[in-house]
Amino acid sequence: MACVMDGNGRWAALRSLPRTSGHRAAETTVIEVIEAARTAGVEWLSLYAFSSENWRRPSGEVDFLMELVRQVVRKHAALLHARSIRCRFLGMADPRIPAPLARDFADLMTLTAVNRGMTLTVAFGHGGRGDIVAAARSLIRDGVPAEAVDERSFAAHLPFPDTPDVDLVIRTSGEQRISNFMLWQVAYAEWVFPPVLWPDFRAPHFLECLRAYRLRDRRFGGVAPYANGDPRP
Ligand code: IPE
Ligand code: IPE
Ligand code: MG
Repeated sequence: MACVMDGNGRWAALRSLPRTSGHRAAETTVIEVIEAARTAGVEWLSLYAFSSENWRRPSGEVDFLMELVRQVVRKHAALLHARSIRCRFLGMADPRIPAPLARDFADLMTLTAVNRGMTLTVAFGHGGRGDIVAAARSLIRDGVPAEAVDERSFAAHLPFPDTPDVDLVIRTSGEQRISNFMLWQVAYAEWVFPPVLWPDFRAPHFLECLRAYRLRDRRFGGVAPYANGDPRP
């Protein structure tokens, strides 16, 4: 499952604070959601932290986010490792990501690579279209003939190709868009849009989203309703 962590700026504006205060307040939610997901038995959790479009924001906000993420990664690395969480960063190949931050990402990935408790993918500098273009380039570079390209072989060239399709996406703050998030992997995801702003989102909200998901019928284009948890058709 995945979270589009949205609403930090509005959370801050409601308090007459700078947008950056909203980003700082998001840290508590991030840790609480990771813990709630792990406890609920979620095996794959992806968090959308910074999009390839977010580089358009004022440089002060972008710089603040780069520094904040660095602090958060450093502060919580030991805890994540102790919880046996395997951490990955999706989008880290973007050369605009400051080198020290990219190194911290790589270090945490290495430190937690053998963990099997839960896989946490932080999408940072990520864009779904960019990933699809990268996969196409990778196929071409490998000289794969056109006839050999199908959905399966194409997906094998995406970054972190072992990542399963996303079953549920939570987008907080009431916004109802994809915003270029893991486009390939969300093809058949269920979406929920809780109105609560990300810094106010807590474990009970998270569990409510899981409850809503369990009530959905997933048909995958067929006619029989497949109960969630059943093997995919
Ligand atoms: C989400 O909160 C965090 C990032 C995109 C980095 P926003 O900063 O988008 O907050 P709003 O949408 O302006 O309230
Ligand atoms: C999407 O949120 C990206 C993240 C949450 C990191 P945005 O706030 O940037 O998306 P738009 O601009 O509302 O589509
Ligand atoms: Mg937003």
